[in-house]
Order: sequence, then structure tokens, then C-alpha cells
Amino acid sequence: MNAERIVRLGVLGCGTVGSSFCELITEQADEIARRTGMRIEIAAVSVRDTAKPRRGVDAGLLTTDSASIVADPTIDVIIETMGGVDHTKELVLTAFASGKPVVTANKELLALHGPELFEAAASAGVDLALEASVAAGLPFIRALRESLTGEDVSRAMGIVNGTTNYILSQMTENGASYDDALAEAQRLGFAEADPTADVGGFDAGSKAAIIATLAFRRAVRAGDVFIEGIESITAEDISNAKRLGYVIKLLAVVERDDAGSIAARVHPTMVPTEHPLASVRDSFNAVYVEGTGIDQIMFYGRGAGGHPTAAMMVGDAIDVAANVGLGCHRGVGPLPDATIIPIDDITSAFYISVDALDQPGVLADIAGAFGSRGVSIRSMEQEGITDDAARLVFITHEAVESDLRATLIELADLASVKNIGQVLRVVCD
Ligand code: NAP
Ligand code: HSE
Repeated sequence: MNAERIVRLGVLGCGTVGSSFCELITEQADEIARRTGMRIEIAAVSVRDTAKPRRGVDAGLLTTDSASIVADPTIDVIIETMGGVDHTKELVLTAFASGKPVVTANKELLALHGPELFEAAASAGVDLALEASVAAGLPFIRALRESLTGEDVSRAMGIVNGTTNYILSQMTENGASYDDALAEAQRLGFAEADPTADVGGFDAGSKAAIIATLAFRRAVRAGDVFIEGIESITAEDISNAKRLGYVIKLLAVVERDDAGSIAARVHPTMVPTEHPLASVRDSFNAVYVEGTGIDQIMFYGRGAGGHPTAAMMVGDAIDVAANVGLGCHRGVGPLPDATIIPIDDITSAFYISVDALDQPGVLADIAGAFGSRGVSIRSMEQEGITDDAARLVFITHEAVESDLRATLIELADLASVKNIGQVLRVVCD
């Protein structure tokens, strides 16, 4: 029998993800050795508080000194699960400079500095593996980097934040309040340390930047992504959507036009109930990719939580450890800056709720405001909210965002319009 090659891992962070990683890789060590010929060992783990007990980690391996792990010449691979940006970026760059590949789940870091980190890894001839950074528990990044390298991807739409999908599912299916659903998502370990990153759409925005970068092989950064969160979604919006044949999902959408310019955006979206993304519930994530050869594919799985995220990091760790043995690495090629399409120029269908006087001629005035901006109405519903006021709910055909915004301004100026309520983008069937 061939001797096993020992691979020593330095793990930065041991919270929800890091402790699951240590648990899984320790439990699977014998089977991984049988399958790969590599005996993977945890050599050291950094945390802030070494006194806290850690699942799956011998207390003697704990340190508060992440830099000492990165500098340790006996450590082969760095597993980064501590989060954070500036300090973490320095540690990752130092790891590359000392010839160590890095496996990370840190989408915030990648969305801000991904292109620079890919370049540094390539110059050092080591891997930067990031499967768990987007739609944590599904092997989507590997598909983008490998299977779809030659595919002409035109668009990807994803439910890529488990916390918000959990909140919206609980509100839709169980009538849960927003606050209770968020508290439960935090208890279950889905939410970021600061959950405003989840509900404000920033976490999904980071993931949109990473997806766009890898799908189109252009540098798209966090600041290029238009972001709206789910904080304004009410029980009434959810029930209106249901009645009209839609569910509300926080979608990350990345698209490329014929000239190669890229749009990346995150916002709550009305998705037709028959669309494959509509059935993605709970903390599950999915990414629906469209391209010339593939037509459409959907990746689906657990998008958050310790074990699903760690499972993808274990796969990455084995992969990069094998590359260390072979003396090779897998880059993503050059990433020139993307030309970004501003949100004003994006085309979408829209849902708009308007409170107006319930009087003759009002509907004609409102229709006139839409018509004057070239926004075509696809459907309209009216319900009385008081004796003399009605709530009108419109769904438009596809319109340019700036025309829709101009319509809203014109509507707000009409004497018969009392209030403009929710405005949401709608996925067309
Ligand atoms: P977490 O539970 O807060 O864990 C963070 C860990 O890092 C803790 O063990 C913490 O130590 C340690 N740490 C933080 N700053 C440190 C420092 N300066 N030096 C040493 N140790 C430090 O966070 P998490 O949920 O596991 O998330 C970790 C990363 O994975 C983030 O980038 C997150 O975005 C990403 N991610 C999370 C999920 C998920 O479902 N949770 C999924 C995909 C990706 P103490 O324990 O002593 O405080
Ligand atoms: N907070 C993130 C989510 C973790 O809820 O999806 C996975 O990236």
C-alpha cells in the first residue's frame, strides 16, 4: 500500500462554519485518506476567545494569533472562516506569498477584493478556492469555474441568501412576523454576524458580484451592484403577490448585454409561482443560469448554516491539497474591469400599488401618466379601501427603469393620487 501524504490545515475562525468544518473533516479523515491517499489533519485553529469550548477541536490547537498560523512553514493549506475584510485580506495575501493556497467562505472579502486576490494567487502559483462563498451548500462556483468555462452565459438569477429566503418563506407560508422569522434564522446560524447584511441585501450583493465576475470573466465589485433589501416587504405585499400568482423572493440578477456590458442587482422580486425559483423555500438557495449552449440550468441546495457551508469547504480543501501534491493550481484567467449598466437603463416588468380617489376619470388620468412615459400596463386590480378611495394594483409590461421612475413622479403629482405604495420588479413568465 502507498504511504499516505500528510496535509496540515491551518483554520482561521471556529464559529458556525469553522467548527462545522473541523467536525466534518475530522469525522471524514479516514474515508478521505482512503479515497485520495491524503491524510488531512488540523494543525492549528485561530479564534478570539480560546477559553470557549469548540466542537471537534482539541483545545491545545487553539490560538488567538492567526498570523502565526499563516507563517507556520509546516502548514500546507489555510482555511479562512473568520470573516472580516482588511485584516483577513492581509492574512490571505501573506498566505499566498508563502506559497499556501486558501479556501474561504468570505463573500464580503471576495466582492471587495476578489480580482486582486485571484491575481495574487495566480502570481504565487496557488489556489484561491471559494465554493462556500456563494449559495454556501451547493457546488455552483465549481460549475461556473469548470463546467461552464466555455459557455456563453447571458444571465443568472439566484436566491442566494438563506436568511431572507427563510424570512420570506415563513411570512408567506406561516404568516410569521418579519421579526420572529429573523430571530429564528439567527438562532439557526444562517444570519451574518450583523443581520442587516442579510435583510439589507448586501450579503446577496456580494454574491452577485462574485457570480458576475466568474460568469462573465470580468471584474465586478460590490460597489457595482444595485441593492435593495427586504425590509419594506409587508404581509399585504405577500398576500397581493399570492393572489396575483406570484411569490416574493430576494433575487440576485446578473446579466450581460450584446455589447458585453454587465448589470448586477439585488432586490425583492415577484416571481411567477410556476417559475422554478418560486418553489425554493426555507433557507434553501438556487441559481438559475441561462446560456447559449445550456439553455437553462438550476442549481439547488442549502444556502446557509454550518454543515452545508463546511461540506463545500471540505471539498475545496481536498481539491487544493491535491493540487499542492501535483504542484499545480487552477486560476480564473484575466479579469478586466467590467462596463457596468446603470440601474436606470435596466428593463423589467413592475408591480405598483397606488391609493387613489374612487371617482370617474381617475383611472384615465393614471393610465395617462403611464402612457406618457411609454410604460404599458399589463393588468390592474381595484379594491375599495375607504368609501371614497381605492387601492389600485398594477403590473406593467417590461419597461425601462428610468421611464418607470418618471411615471411614479408624474403619478405622485396627480391630485387624485393619495399615495404610491410598494413598487417591485417582476420576473416575466
Ligand atoms: P461566526 O460564527 O461569527 O465565526 C467567526 C469565527 O471567527 C469565530 O470563531 C471568531 O472567534 C473568529 N474570529 C473572528 N475574528 C477573529 C480574529 N480577528 N482573530 C481570530 N479569530 C477571529 O461566523 P460564521 O457564521 O462562521 O461565518 C464565517 C464566515 O463564513 C463569514 O465570512 C461568513 O460570511 C461566511 N459564511 C457563513 C455562512 C453561514 O451560514 N454562517 C455561510 C457561508 C459563508 P470567537 O468564536 O472567539 O468569537
Ligand atoms: N448569511 C448568509 C445567508 C450565509 O443567510 O445566506 C450564507 O452566505
